[in-house]
Amino acid sequence: MPNKNVIFEAKDLVKEFGHGKTHNVVLKGLNFEIEDGEIVTIVGGSACGKSVVAKHLLGFMQPTKGELFYKGKKITNQRDHWQTVQPIFQDPFSAFNQFFSIRSQLEDSFKVLYKRPSRAEIKERVDAALLAVNVMPSDLKEKFPFELSGGQMQRMLLARIFALKPQVLIADEATSMVDACVRANILDYLMKLKKELNMTIVFITHDIGLAYYVSDRIFVMHDGGIVEHGTPDEVALHPKSNHTIQLLEDIPDIHKDWIKRKRA
Ligand SMILES: Nc1ncnc2c1ncn2[C@@H]1O[C@H](COP(=O)(O)OP(=O)(O)O)[C@@H](O)[C@H]1O
Ligand SMILES: [Mg+2]
Repeated sequence: MPNKNVIFEAKDLVKEFGHGKTHNVVLKGLNFEIEDGEIVTIVGGSACGKSVVAKHLLGFMQPTKGELFYKGKKITNQRDHWQTVQPIFQDPFSAFNQFFSIRSQLEDSFKVLYKRPSRAEIKERVDAALLAVNVMPSDLKEKFPFELSGGQMQRMLLARIFALKPQVLIADEATSMVDACVRANILDYLMKLKKELNMTIVFITHDIGLAYYVSDRIFVMHDGGIVEHGTPDEVALHPKSNHTIQLLEDIPDIHKDWIKRKRA
């Protein structure tokens, strides 16, 4: 395939935790490819291994068996990896230090980059990022994490991404704590950013309705394996796996009606 530009490739990816009684095989031999510029969503129920996959993609975890390549190479140096691959996680409070102002932490996140912009440019980019998530930079001023709600903090995580503009974004349940209206704004903005940077995005969610809207391809996970994959129409309108059908039954009604209408 001439135009295919694979950036992530997993070959029989296995992750095990513990020993003896606590031994647990969490990823049971995953094989997948993610192409440059693609939006892939990994969908699955609770504890099926989604976040463990995210942690491998970010270089936080190493596989027990099998291989994971990023641009043809194994991920060995985390700092190198984070020049281009950045996360947004589910729990925004764990991503910010309670003892420093949010503004200073947003500016400090540029320290991960070897090629850091000037101070003035950093300020400009942080301001633009705050506006992008509907926060007036003047309102934030010297605010600390404990002064914001969960939803506001999650927008701070997004602001961090908008400021850093990574090539690859791994978003693990990134919009789970915000209301539907803010979520739509965030997704809109991510899509704009995606176009602007030709960013690759890996979304991780339990909501196949959300996956249906945003993805080029969907991987359905169950119990440490990928049970089905394809385009949103293939997966949501013509599901083959019972696990996919179950996820379709579980999605919020507003999404469900819409998909049902397309199925009919
Ligand atoms: N660091 C760890 N040590 C031991 N078990 C873990 C660890 N991280 C995840 N697990 C286990 O792996 C399974 C999948 O977890 P996770 O990927 O977080 O699920 P989810 O699909 O909800 O994101 C769970 O049973 C979890 O308890
Ligand atoms: Mg998770």
